[in-house]
Amino acid sequence: MSQHTQTKRRMAPDITALKGVRPIVSLTAYHAHTAAIADKYCDFLLVGDSLGMVMHGHETTVPVPLELMVMHGRAVVRGAKQSLVVVDMPFGTYEESPSVAFRNCATVMKQTDCGAVKLEGGRRMAETIRYLVDRGVPVMAHIGLTPQSINVLGGFKAQGRTRPEWDALEEDARLVAEAGAFAVVLEAIAAPLAERITAAVPIPTIGIGASAACDGQILVMEDMLGLSPRVPKFVKEFGSIGAAIERAIAGYADEVRAGTFPTPDHSFAMREEAAKAGEPAAGRVTKKPKIPST
Ligand code: KIV
Repeated sequence: MSQHTQTKRRMAPDITALKGVRPIVSLTAYHAHTAAIADKYCDFLLVGDSLGMVMHGHETTVPVPLELMVMHGRAVVRGAKQSLVVVDMPFGTYEESPSVAFRNCATVMKQTDCGAVKLEGGRRMAETIRYLVDRGVPVMAHIGLTPQSINVLGGFKAQGRTRPEWDALEEDARLVAEAGAFAVVLEAIAAPLAERITAAVPIPTIGIGASAACDGQILVMEDMLGLSPRVPKFVKEFGSIGAAIERAIAGYADEVRAGTFPTPDHSFAMREEAAKAGEPAAGRVTKKPKIPST
């Protein structure tokens, strides 16, 4: 297993420096416990606004408010110790003007302590990316299928599957790189175009449904764990956590109904009786190490 440890948390330039060196590994994370696990294997963790769909049951990412990103961003930063944590800027918080974008990005960085933000859009966001980077905000760009524009795109559709679309998408990648983005997510982009963009830009391309030609990969954690009810074609389920959760919950419900849980092992005797039986005095014995609670 490709677990790796390093003493210092990665920063945006560390991710850029991996281009051409080795594949970049990343996942989304929304809470502290899963972030702590993924942290051991990933170069960066993205607090994606996909959390609106995955965790909060929305149909799209459009309704996600800034406060929700801050709340989950804080949790992930607490859980992850070595990965760069990138927080997605939600719809409506950065498109209006570079100065509005800066104010909201600064809020996210101050309140979460994350190391970078991500925003969607190619050429239309280039000026904003330059403005943010010049003021100390590392930006990951996101082009191709940009879910916040779902209502304009008319659905979650792969991009660049016909040659006439190629030039505009390649130009998007080039312009965000020139504007100072430290990496760019290519979402649902036809494989040959993703390969061409990856060769054309000096920053890492992070693919999600954009082939192995990209410099790195990202997946939504719940999708690859087998926890999401529906997944896009580009997801491979590396686990079946949804089925494991259901088995555990069914087992719990059965035992409660049958009266076989809880047993005396899960209950508290009077202190005197416990001492006689040689049981520990502690109220709660934790078997697994806890994640830090700072
Ligand atoms: O919100 C998200 O999870 C994302 C990834 C799909 C890249 O933007």
